[in-house]
Amino acid sequence: MKFNIKITKAQNSQLGQVDFDDIPFGRVFSDHMFVADYKDGEWQSPRIVPFGRFEMHPAAMVLHYGQAIFEGMKASKSHDGTPFFLRPEMHAKRLNNSARRMCMPEVPEALFLEALHTLVDLDSDWIPPQEGSALYIRPYMFATDEFIGVKPSATYRFIIFTGPVGPYYPKPVSLIADRQFARAAVQGGTGEAKVAGNYAASLLPAKLANEKGYDQVMWLDSREFKYIQEVGTMNIFFVIDGTVVTPKLDGGILPGITRDTILKLLPEHGYKVEERPIAIDELVDAYKAGKLQEVFGSGTAAVVAHVSKVAYDGFEMELPPVEERKVGPFIKAQIDGMRSGKIEDKHGWIVPVQGQAVNA
Ligand code: COI
Repeated sequence: MKFNIKITKAQNSQLGQVDFDDIPFGRVFSDHMFVADYKDGEWQSPRIVPFGRFEMHPAAMVLHYGQAIFEGMKASKSHDGTPFFLRPEMHAKRLNNSARRMCMPEVPEALFLEALHTLVDLDSDWIPPQEGSALYIRPYMFATDEFIGVKPSATYRFIIFTGPVGPYYPKPVSLIADRQFARAAVQGGTGEAKVAGNYAASLLPAKLANEKGYDQVMWLDSREFKYIQEVGTMNIFFVIDGTVVTPKLDGGILPGITRDTILKLLPEHGYKVEERPIAIDELVDAYKAGKLQEVFGSGTAAVVAHVSKVAYDGFEMELPPVEERKVGPFIKAQIDGMRSGKIEDKHGWIVPVQGQAVNA
């Protein structure tokens, strides 16, 4: 142990109250959380404490100027009961990319990983054994200076908490693209960082999409409203005439870790994959020509979410039933299979939870 994380255990575990066969996403929280505070230029007092509320000053800068970033990751148990993460260092790196964009301090990767391993080891009984379920992990950081005025905060809090989750989208999702709102600016904005404000800005368009009968927004680029970026809270993939296509990262798109996993796995299984700009008009043309075969989203929470239909300009593109699809179900089974330990991990992505032994 390099960081000497102080552990205060919860007196009473809440675990007995959880029905692992019926877990609502995002509403159940495990017994402990990791907390560290940034002050005088360094991360201080790394600790694990019972999960619970904490006080905030009304002038805490995050509440006014929105310096807040987060990650979403998961821990699972393989069929022999070993708890593990998938590509945890990628999340540490992405958190720090987000931190740099928001003028926040980085969390040393070793601290991030030690906190993660120690916390999840302590609450490993909270990892649901059911396939398709996992322990969702939420690392996040926010500004805590008590100050009115726009400048970077000098103090921050970094927290990791966890909670068991079932599927984020239990059924295929419907999407609508329009030209009224963008998720984030394509150049120079915050789209490629995982910042809280991006999600806040997505709420009104998502509500309007819901009112029109669609589950999620399919975002177009902010410059021309022409190129597809991502959907709701996921990256997006299309199967067009046998080729799997996903929008190329352009500064406005979140570099999804599940997206990256899919891009590496599919070619290894003989699929042709392209990362390139995809205009919404190209999608409509492909659909009209009978060449749009599948659409699916990818994300940590969603893993792989099949898309039932996409609407644009009053035109609806209905996609085939999931049973008739090939790529989406295949890649979902690959990722779920790796998670349950049934499919071999040839990339070193699976990292067993090491508890306090990490960095020892
Ligand atoms: C994730 O996919 O983990 C996210 O952070 C998205 C969130 C809406 C659950």
